[in-house]
Amino acid sequence: MDKDLLKKLSPLILAMDTSSLHEAREVASKVVESVDIVKIGLQLFSSAGTGSISSFKDDGFEIFVDIKMCDIPNTVASACRVLCDYEPLMLTIHTMGGVEMMRAASIAVREHCDGLGLRKPLLVGVTVLTSIDLFALGKIGVDDSVEGQVCRLAALARDSGMDGLVCSPLEITPVRREVGEEMVLVTPGVRLRDSDRNDQLRVAAPGEAMKSGADFLVVGRPIYESEDPEGSAGRILDDIRL
Ligand code: C5P
Repeated sequence: MDKDLLKKLSPLILAMDTSSLHEAREVASKVVESVDIVKIGLQLFSSAGTGSISSFKDDGFEIFVDIKMCDIPNTVASACRVLCDYEPLMLTIHTMGGVEMMRAASIAVREHCDGLGLRKPLLVGVTVLTSIDLFALGKIGVDDSVEGQVCRLAALARDSGMDGLVCSPLEITPVRREVGEEMVLVTPGVRLRDSDRNDQLRVAAPGEAMKSGADFLVVGRPIYESEDPEGSAGRILDDIRL
């Protein structure tokens, strides 16, 4: 991936978690001044499939396919090859799927794209979801702090050839320390101080997250549920510039 392209893009990624592609394109059309990358998550992908990637690309956006794949290595690698044909900017898989899965995915992406002359997407590993706190982590049998678990998964992802990581704003600093400057860090769980947190537990303000070392921020509901999506996106960018 061309590092200069990444630097040119707005750091604000719009998460479009709706079922209607029409509605999603309408919201996205209102934020073109602030947003270059649209994130297609499980809801929109389940409803509109790969057609949603092509539609947003036609509208001039870069695409983050965030379907957080987690399956056996062969299945994830095969699905990655299919998605590479649409040339998204980023693609997520779960780091909890293990080293073999991450390695298979990263080899599949590299070989497939090199073979066909396609632009290679950034393969981004989801660490611990931002809706999970220490209590929730303990309940699924992980006997470590959230930070410890995120850093362990981040190091495995780096060693498996992954290009980036998704982590909460609260773990950006330790993750940067763990993996260095090369990996792209994407963080959801971003809220302005006066904004509703919804189900996000590990949150920070946009400016704080960027100062900690994030490359991109993912924000959904505060923009697409707003009466004024462009104004809301603008306020988030203002917080970054402060
Ligand atoms: O609406 P909100 O700003 O909370 O949306 C956050 C987005 O980031 C959602 O699309 C969610 O799937 C995604 N995400 C997350 N936590 C992660 C990884 C992705 O919230 N660890």
